[in-house]
Amino acid sequence: MSAKPVLWLPRRVSDATIARARESYDVILNEADVPASADEIVAMSARADAVMPCHSENFSAEVVARLDPRLKIVANHSVGVDHCDLPALKEKGIAVTNTPDVLSDATAEIAMLLMLGAARHAVAGDHMVRTGSWKFWSPSFMVGKQVTGSRIGIVGMGRVGRVMAARARGFGMDVHYCNRTRLPPELEAGATFHADLDSLLAVSEFLSLHCPATPETENLMNADRLAKLPSGAILINTARGALVDEAALLEALDSGRLAAAGLDCFRVEPGGNPAFAEHENIFMLPHIGSATTRTRDAMGFRALDNLDAFFAGETPGDLL
Ligand code: DGY
Repeated sequence: MSAKPVLWLPRRVSDATIARARESYDVILNEADVPASADEIVAMSARADAVMPCHSENFSAEVVARLDPRLKIVANHSVGVDHCDLPALKEKGIAVTNTPDVLSDATAEIAMLLMLGAARHAVAGDHMVRTGSWKFWSPSFMVGKQVTGSRIGIVGMGRVGRVMAARARGFGMDVHYCNRTRLPPELEAGATFHADLDSLLAVSEFLSLHCPATPETENLMNADRLAKLPSGAILINTARGALVDEAALLEALDSGRLAAAGLDCFRVEPGGNPAFAEHENIFMLPHIGSATTRTRDAMGFRALDNLDAFFAGETPGDLL
């Protein structure tokens, strides 16, 4: 019987994923469950045939250049792959996969939560009741922005963006979107296409980001673009922190140009931006868009499906 391939799990993925992984692989699990450093990644590449990293493990060009030839596949436990230098991995002959589709529902749920919470003063309201400082009520108290019937702009109409559009439609929102290419009518489902981001921004009472972080989208929402949103707009980011210029966002909120923001992603993770903490009109979560039991299992299983195909000599379904 031939030996099982060695699979390194740098992070504690779901129990069901670990159990299934152990059936087909000799698993090395990082029980400490802390992000692997560059040196650890390099050292482990000499001990493992495959790795299932999360977005917390950085496969930069410098790291990839030092990888041992034993490592054959990086089967990401994430849809985002901005932590991987794809050209460097390709040049080194290392296969790379991700986990699309399976986290779209969970991520769109969090985007809806952020949108509703940001629009309706969730942070200030929760704080007031929780701390016993709720001493007053009036019809003009904590008046927010109604989501139902408002217009939402979706940047990136991929899988998550399309689920977000469907959820927004459920709230009677008028859906507009910007994407590299216009979707066919059955996927567009009545949404209004904008070929140009500035044109989308101009009509977006709510703007939700669902595009990948790439060198082209870094700081996509900079001061100029934030200024193009209608006055009192609300920004939602469940994609990646790199898409937003955080200093410009703070300025836009402080000036009153933007009413609020809902953020699950930050430039610095973990940790976020301490300056945001002083703003009760920023509703924040710690990058938990895909963090449901069902979705974590589905992400792990999808990564294992890709590994199984690879080691069976087939092309993994999510090969990048
Ligand atoms: C993803 O899959 O990209 C999520 O952000 C979790 O890593």
